[in-house]
Parts: sequence; structure tokens; C-alpha cells
Amino acid sequence: MKIRQGRAKGLFGNKGAEGRLGNVPKYIKQILKKKKKVKVLEVGTGYGRALLELKNLFGDRVETYGINAEPEWNQKLVKKYALHEKLFDKQNINKNLPKIFILDAGKKLPFKNNFIDLIINPATMQYIPDKIHFIEESNRILTKEGIAALELEEVRNEHPLEYKNLFEIWDNGVKVDFLKYLKKFKNIKIKKSKNRPWHYILITKVKKLDFKLKYITSINLEEQFSSNWEIRWWGKKSIYVVK
Ligand SMILES: C[S@@+](CC[C@H](N)C(=O)[O-])C[C@H]1O[C@@H](n2cnc3c(N)ncnc32)[C@H](O)[C@@H]1O
Repeated sequence: MKIRQGRAKGLFGNKGAEGRLGNVPKYIKQILKKKKKVKVLEVGTGYGRALLELKNLFGDRVETYGINAEPEWNQKLVKKYALHEKLFDKQNINKNLPKIFILDAGKKLPFKNNFIDLIINPATMQYIPDKIHFIEESNRILTKEGIAALELEEVRNEHPLEYKNLFEIWDNGVKVDFLKYLKKFKNIKIKKSKNRPWHYILITKVKKLDFKLKYITSINLEEQFSSNWEIRWWGKKSIYVVK
């Protein structure tokens, strides 16, 4: 099995993922003080390494769910990967697999209100066309004890100026600073990601999270692809106007 490194980071083994969402096991322990079991959703599951690691750490005290965009990145692939990496043996694999949904996380998420206790999205926000809708949906599905630790990936310093910011917000012809805009929402804490120029946010549940932003479009910067890896552009720039 050929493993694409960018999609196999997990939370512990690979330094690239460290400190970009805070401390995920700590959030789980926090929620476990209030609940017997924690439902964890990783948006942009890749091979499922992070969810498998959490199963290894917490066993039956976590129930794991994943979302990927491409049909081939399904539960079968996660199983193959887990066996290949010897994360679980054949006897124990099935009960430790996450339930995987294949969809665009910028659309309605496939969970009822107040269902998931912890939501993470390592290395994935950049690919979601309607990022704001995804953040609002995360709040909708979150339980009252829950935390959404979402990596924003709001800036790509290596892009040309026009494409640096992956969240672009306009208010009557004036560009609005996205992080400043977020500060208006009291249930959202903004934190700096470790070793990365961008931030992550910690969301606690409110009845309805409405950013009052209208989605205009997204520009797929990877279509401006350069074969030179060093100057490659990443993800999708999402554009909004204040309602
Ligand atoms: C770079 S991988 C990250 C994998 C893993 N979280 C990690 O840190 O190693 C990006 C993931 O985002 C997923 N993805 C891309 N676009 C998406 C979208 N619109 N909605 C949901 N997932 C998406 C891909 O399927 C892929 O699993």
C-alpha cells in the first residue's frame, strides 16, 4: 500500500500535526468528566490515522466518525491502512473503525443537532469551498458539553498577495479582517497554531451560530497548479459578503 504522507498525519506520530488544534486528548478527557462516552468527528479523515490513534488511547470511551470528499477514501481504505500500519490486528480492527461519510463538508453535515462532542479538521479547512457554512454546521451538531477545535488555515504566505487569504469578506466594498470579524462571537476562542502562520478556533455550543455572511464563490487555487512543488498554491479561497 502506497501511503500519501499529507493524508496520514494523525495526532502524535508526525510532527506536522502537533499543536495545530491544541491538545485533542485533553479535550476528550475534559468532556469525559461530564459524559461516559465522547463522539469524535474528524472532518477530512484521510486514512483515519488520528481517529485510530484516539481509539487506541480511549477504547470504548470514544465513538469515531469521519468525513472525506473522495469516494475511494472510505472505511475500506481506513481498514487497509490500519492493518498495514499495525495499528490494530485483524481480530480487533472492525470495532475500532470510524464510520466514514463521503461528502463536501461545506454542505449540510449528516448528523442531527447536538450529536457530536468533539470536532477536529486537521489540514482540511483549506479544501472546503464554503468554510463559513462548515463552521456554522459544526456548532449545530455540537453537544452542549462539546468542543469544536477547527484549524482555520486562513492564510498562505507563499501565495501571491491576491490569494494569500483563504477567507475573503467584503462589507459594502470594504474588505473585512476575518479574525477581527470572528472576535465578535463570544463562543469562539481564537488561538495561534504551533509552527504555522494560521490560527485554530475553539467553539463551544450556542443555540444558533449565524455569521451573517453570504457565500459568493470559491476559487480553487490548485487549478492554478504549478508542477514545481516549491511554488505550489493550496486549497480554495472562499469569498463572502456581509449580509
Ligand atoms: C491533507 S488531507 C488531511 C488528512 C488528515 N486529517 C491528516 O491530517 O493527515 C485532506 C482531507 O480533506 C478531505 N477533503 C477535501 N475536501 C473536502 C471537503 N470539501 N469536504 C470534506 N473533506 C474534504 C480529503 O478527503 C482529505 O481526507
